[in-house]
Amino acid sequence: MTSLPPFPTRRVDDLGPKEGRSPAGPRDDVQRIIGTVWDFSALLVFDELNMIGHLADEPLTVDELAERCGAHSGALRRVLRTLEPYDLARLRWGERWALTAIGTFLHDDTGEAIRRYVRKRAEPHRWQEVPTWPEQVTEGRRVTPSSRRLRRGLGASASIRLSDLLDSVDDFGALFVAAQLGLADRLASTPMCIEELTTEYGADGKTLSWMLQRLISHGLFTRKGDLYATRPAGETLQQDRADSMRLAVLMNGQMLWWEMLRRLPDTVRLGAPTLPDGSSSTYAYLAAHPDILARFQAFMAARTYPVARWLAAEAAPGSTVVDVGGGHGTVLAEILQAQPTCRGVLLERPDVILAARDSLAGRGLLERCTLMAGDFFAEVPAGGDTYILGSVLHNWSDDHARRILKRVREAMMRTGGSRLWCIDALLPFNDEPHPGRSLDMRMLSLFGAGQERTRREYEALLADAGLTVRRQIRLPHALTMTEAVIAAR
Ligand SMILES: C[S@@+](CC[C@H](N)C(=O)[O-])C[C@H]1O[C@@H](n2cnc3c(N)ncnc32)[C@H](O)[C@@H]1O
Repeated sequence: MTSLPPFPTRRVDDLGPKEGRSPAGPRDDVQRIIGTVWDFSALLVFDELNMIGHLADEPLTVDELAERCGAHSGALRRVLRTLEPYDLARLRWGERWALTAIGTFLHDDTGEAIRRYVRKRAEPHRWQEVPTWPEQVTEGRRVTPSSRRLRRGLGASASIRLSDLLDSVDDFGALFVAAQLGLADRLASTPMCIEELTTEYGADGKTLSWMLQRLISHGLFTRKGDLYATRPAGETLQQDRADSMRLAVLMNGQMLWWEMLRRLPDTVRLGAPTLPDGSSSTYAYLAAHPDILARFQAFMAARTYPVARWLAAEAAPGSTVVDVGGGHGTVLAEILQAQPTCRGVLLERPDVILAARDSLAGRGLLERCTLMAGDFFAEVPAGGDTYILGSVLHNWSDDHARRILKRVREAMMRTGGSRLWCIDALLPFNDEPHPGRSLDMRMLSLFGAGQERTRREYEALLADAGLTVRRQIRLPHALTMTEAVIAAR
């Protein structure tokens, strides 16, 4: 065992304003466009389950509202939590939800057009359109954005965020086309005019112009005179970057993701998702669809890369790091590369471990890494100075998360003196916008009880498993690293 340096006990809430906030990065703009589509699905639930109508009658607790809507109350609470920053409904007197002025406006006749729009957007044939936009664009067909008249009708400045929600599907569609065509790479070195672009991609000029205009409004591209060029936020979509956001966009444009998003109202009714092919879980679905699994793991690797860099700098020289559910080994690869005296152990599902082996072998790191095909609900190997659970706990219900943590704690007990790093988004206590809220809708759609948690909820899970928090650090991309050790008896 290597002795690890002691750290002061600090929690996210104790951190100063600068260190307490996730460092903002150029990837955030792309992330925001992706996240807003998931928020839009929460608005869809809000309307389809007639939460607006029930709350217009009287303020209700989550359980009362769930009963009236015929919904699962835990899932319904999460929808309300996601929509908090849009200020449609607010918690009053600590326990009852009531419509705000904007929510009331949505309920009134004037809001009917908006509600109709939201429902229309979710009709299966319309929903299925966006994933086909890249194909339509390269076939030179005209893609028509939804009417903007509706947005102008919103008027009040308080509704600006609501108007973002209504634009979100078009915005994402434009982003998806840009990612598929590789526009960020194309326009990074050589600015081009619309005629050159339409010739190169065989696209309809009007379609490409409005799509670029949408992405300019999000700061990803710029237009000087007739020439379009990529801005730094747009460069995050470039293919060759290890942290490329392109993979996140392509993953979110997949029919599976899109279909699960459309099914959210049913998921909220049942409290759990139903997968299109009847698979028992999203991971079972991925195991049955190797092409989507490969894309998912590539997306996770790019998402995790900036965090992996940070963890690599934190790893103690000479230590053994066990990455539990470590995907293709992104974190271990960065640690082993940065720390030549470290060793790694990767525990993954059997359907993932072979690709992980290829990835680590490709970087010449296999000799210092043990690969274990296994199940973190059954056993976690002993011998680690540091254990890592990166974006793992948020895929699971509280019960399942406790079981994983208990297996990790048993391994830590058998080793002695180890620490655990858990990486997830921690939700704020107040109603401020946070990327974890939309991520929570993604977890609800794909994993049901898998969820983002507040710091208190997170620490309660760790405490239940006999672990205590030593420190917390905000990482890029609105993630937090929580370091825990075995609790003193
Ligand atoms: C969201 S991904 C996170 C991957 C990686 N830790 C990262 O941060 O990029 C969750 C990982 O848990 C793995 N996983 C799911 N169920 C598992 C199980 N029962 N045992 C081991 N790994 C599992 C999945 O294959 C997947 O790679």
